[in-house]
Amino acid sequence: MQLLFRENLARVCKFQTNHGEIETPTVMPVINPNLNFLTERELRELGAQAVITNSYIIKRTESLSEYAMKYGVHKLINFNGPIMTDSGTFQSYVYGDIEYNNREIVDFQRKIGSDIITILDIFSKPEDNYNTSKMAVEETYKRLKEINIGKDLIAGPIQGSIYPDLRQFSAELMSEAPYLPIGGVVPLLESYRYKDLVNVIINSKLHSDFSRPVHLFGGGHPMFFAMSILLGVDIFDSASYIKYAKDNRILYQEGTRSLKDIRDFPEWSPIYGKYKPDELLREKEGVRIKELSKHNLKAIFMEINEIKERIYENTLYQYVHERAHSHPSLYKAYIEIMNNGDILPYQSLSSKSPFFFYDEISFKNPWIQRIISFTINLIKNNKRTILLTKKQWKPGMNILDSVKKLYESINGNILVPWNGIYIPIELENTYPVGQMVSSDIISRSYKENYIDKLKSVNSEVEFYNDDINYKDKIRDFDHEKIKKISCFQFGTQELFSDNDKIIKSKATGHIRNIMGENNLIATMRNDGFFTLGIEGGKILKNLKKYPELRIVVPGESGEYNAKGYNVFFKFVEDFDENIISGNDVLVVDPDDNLYAVGKATVSGRELKYYNDGVAVKVHVGIK
Ligand code: GUN
Repeated sequence: MQLLFRENLARVCKFQTNHGEIETPTVMPVINPNLNFLTERELRELGAQAVITNSYIIKRTESLSEYAMKYGVHKLINFNGPIMTDSGTFQSYVYGDIEYNNREIVDFQRKIGSDIITILDIFSKPEDNYNTSKMAVEETYKRLKEINIGKDLIAGPIQGSIYPDLRQFSAELMSEAPYLPIGGVVPLLESYRYKDLVNVIINSKLHSDFSRPVHLFGGGHPMFFAMSILLGVDIFDSASYIKYAKDNRILYQEGTRSLKDIRDFPEWSPIYGKYKPDELLREKEGVRIKELSKHNLKAIFMEINEIKERIYENTLYQYVHERAHSHPSLYKAYIEIMNNGDILPYQSLSSKSPFFFYDEISFKNPWIQRIISFTINLIKNNKRTILLTKKQWKPGMNILDSVKKLYESINGNILVPWNGIYIPIELENTYPVGQMVSSDIISRSYKENYIDKLKSVNSEVEFYNDDINYKDKIRDFDHEKIKKISCFQFGTQELFSDNDKIIKSKATGHIRNIMGENNLIATMRNDGFFTLGIEGGKILKNLKKYPELRIVVPGESGEYNAKGYNVFFKFVEDFDENIISGNDVLVVDPDDNLYAVGKATVSGRELKYYNDGVAVKVHVGIK
């Protein structure tokens, strides 16, 4: 997978097949080899890049099988792009034993020229007990091992029912396959068990090889796309577009409606203006199914396009929040995601779009959680901690002289009220503090609990009152501010010293450059964090021990980075697992010689998986 854009576990990627490239996230419409309603041109116009069909149905239908063996599956279903074939696992789950074994069905898929070939995995049902599910995982892995993967794109489904450890185990084993479907989830989807489903996805994804495309088998309803993509699903297949069409049901991005219950088609529909719903109901079945299938695919690809746009603008979290409200079961699943701390390390340092705060559930967002933990840790220094009022500080307001004086006269923590909680005043311009739009819907009890939490870790917490005496200046606000930001961003405040020169913008008064004796240490970005200069890199290298904050490349490639060229994934030899995507890092060789500083494109958790593309966008090299 070549990574193009990301947000948390969601990503826009590209990968190659024998019949061309696929850009994810995407949906593969399911094609029935017996009966093809839409032409390749129609499918492509609606947004399809690849399709999925069933090799088991082809194999056991003599006429199809003979044709496919002679002319290939692409001719059989008249689609000249990437075709994935499934194996008959699902039929075996629905109808019992099937007449072919794993090797036979894989061999058949190879012979008919399938681009993505699926092994005959064992479907583990949600109600299966632990041992049965474990056997399904082990047998599925055995079947992956008994075929020779070679250069083929073999799909090795992750099974394990709803048991977290089995899903994790299966994901680790199956990562030997170049393509990873998450299987056994259709019953969960059909019964709206989205909460169980998100746990299945998280456990599978976080233990799989991130260089593999992840496919949610049977997850073809647009309502659930955003949530699963946020959790790292890249590909879906959809039989629903046609199943619903046959039942006279039409898909919308947030749900379905019955053809007989609607007044008209939405304006975006390919049917709009062509038929009224009652006219279409009176049409011949073939025409009706074709029209409704087109409508349904349109709804599916509109949602995919919107999600891609959201990943690009870093607002998928927000979009998931919106989508979660289209069904109570989805909402429950959304709360489950927000309470899951495991995905926090994948969140980037900041976003290019403002943060939308809706209600208390938004506190669970990784960006807010990071600020809260930073605040709690900071005041564990047990120094005097003064909580200011809204009169003294508001987001976007330039610091008042009186507040600055107070700050500079005490050796302690000054926290400011922000969105119902209190945070260090020094973070006032960092994302999302300075870039938030809030509903202000925060309960009194939430605020009180937060204050109790502060008091429980620091006995010196007090509210501001007019009796506090300002004494002499013992520290400088701007210098303390850059130190605290550095502490948040790099885990040390010693990147800067009191002797550094702080240069501000003449137009806005905002901090811009921090100079050491002669050299630039860092520049403040628009999101309130720092871009390192070489001097900053040198200082951090001495402060943080190897491999902290580092991406390690061989000396020969380091020489290129020293001249300012980016670091490619394929050269990365070692790295700090705790690197946050979008944060600055040091590019060094195994002997810890510094070559460059730049911005990591992914988190430390993901770094080892990618081979294609840029790992560090170098700002400046030592040469
Ligand atoms: N289609 C829907 N679910 C599954 C599954 O678990 N395995 C396979 N091979 N196909 C599926």
